[in-house]
Amino acid sequence: MRYDTDSTQVVEKTLNPGLKSRLMAKIPVMQAEVRDLLKAHGDFKISDVTLSQAYGGMRGVKCMVTETSAVDPMEGIRFRGYTIPELREKLPKAPGGEEPLPEGVFNLLLTGEIPSAEEVFATTLAWRKHETLPEHAKEALDRLPIDAHPMTQFSIGILAMQYDSLFANKYREGMTKTEYPEVLYDDSMILLGRLPQLAAYIYRRSYHNGVHIPPAETNMDWGGNLAHMMGVPNEKFKELMRLYLTIHADHEGGNVSAHTTHLVGSALSDPYLCLSAGMNGLAGPLHGLANQEVLRWIVDLKNRFDGVPTRDQMVEFIWETLNSGQVIPGYGHAVLRKTDPRYTAQREFALKHLEDDENFRIVHMLYDVVPGILQEHGKAKNPWPNVDAHSGCLLVHYGVTEYDFYTVLFGVSRAMGVLSSLIWDRSLRLPLERPKSVTTGWVKQQVNIKE
Ligand SMILES: CC(C)(COP(=O)(O)OP(=O)(O)OC[C@H]1O[C@@H](n2cnc3c(N)ncnc32)[C@H](O)[C@@H]1OP(=O)(O)O)[C@@H](O)C(=O)NCCC(=O)NCCS
Repeated sequence: MRYDTDSTQVVEKTLNPGLKSRLMAKIPVMQAEVRDLLKAHGDFKISDVTLSQAYGGMRGVKCMVTETSAVDPMEGIRFRGYTIPELREKLPKAPGGEEPLPEGVFNLLLTGEIPSAEEVFATTLAWRKHETLPEHAKEALDRLPIDAHPMTQFSIGILAMQYDSLFANKYREGMTKTEYPEVLYDDSMILLGRLPQLAAYIYRRSYHNGVHIPPAETNMDWGGNLAHMMGVPNEKFKELMRLYLTIHADHEGGNVSAHTTHLVGSALSDPYLCLSAGMNGLAGPLHGLANQEVLRWIVDLKNRFDGVPTRDQMVEFIWETLNSGQVIPGYGHAVLRKTDPRYTAQREFALKHLEDDENFRIVHMLYDVVPGILQEHGKAKNPWPNVDAHSGCLLVHYGVTEYDFYTVLFGVSRAMGVLSSLIWDRSLRLPLERPKSVTTGWVKQQVNIKE
């Protein structure tokens, strides 16, 4: 169905109005806080930019504001001030489950508050209510080659649904700026509701002869239902999905998928356009695609040595990879300088549920070997594993062996973080983003003048 403006009021009632009103109550408070801060300290400098930074991917340049999360190089991510272990402890769980429900992290990212079980359930209901994929989106996907990369399909699927965007429709009708946050919230809720079905549709289309599995008839949670629609009804896999979707949700604002979504949104592009753009960034091998690359590399390693390699064989393979000019996927990070706590959370899950798994043993051996080699190699600033080093072995354990699909799961999760930030971006009236670029000629001139 198309969500035209006539049906908007009916639709709004189904989009978790409790969460919406909690969010809307916070917006004027935060707007006033930022207004006062800028009035009193607008000239306060938080960064100087060096030439190396301008040519070097802007590492460490503090030039954007993201409310939902922050990464400390030594400690890792905090979502609204909460570490990953705190989230695992404090966020509501599925009945009988031990891992946090991703609906909870979405509530937290939006409002800054740990939600109650009832509040989380209301989000589940809202998302489940809007999970059905429009027929035209399925048809768009079905026109693609069956072996089109799943991330290409994911991005196209999101774009195909842009036809339904409330934000785009209302903008055309002349909505005012004060309406942006509410309409972005509504659009984002509908889009998030649909993502598990979109992901499962791609998975079943690409790897299971297009035999699709309808959503669970019960009020099963967002992550559990994704597992169900993928055709992996194992209860432990559902738990893995809940953990996976929670920990991949956000990683402050500067990473490629978050930054892209934010940038595109600054042109007042709607959430579908923004998310699709962000997902194209996530699909790069230095970003989210690294999770598939890790598993592909581990499979190559096992093929090369006919099974689990010895430590010496592993060392040989790592050096071969480095000497051929490739990176070791899953290791290094632009900001982190220690083991990623998202890696540790997945390791804890593995220790609990798949201790004897062959791929987990390899991942663990790599943890022992790779950092020392990267240090000896002398290039990577961070020799420690990131989130992508671990996820593949967990997915394979539950039968999801098709590693080209892994980044789609990352994308379903990351959508929660980037869409939460998008709502806050417009709530705080962040304008069109337009940094000044300069030419090398200009730089040389400036340096000469100074000398
Ligand atoms: C994540 C990543 C892109 C960060 O890039 P970055 O901020 O430029 O990292 P660094 O400053 O440490 O890079 C310095 C050098 O070390 C290299 N390096 C970094 N991580 C490396 C790795 N895992 N293996 C081999 N070399 C690596 C870089 O390619 C760069 O080499 P160059 O000078 O020849 O260009 C990088 O660590 C990487 O490519 N890792 C593997 C891919 C991956 O796991 N991505 C997922 C990230 S969550």
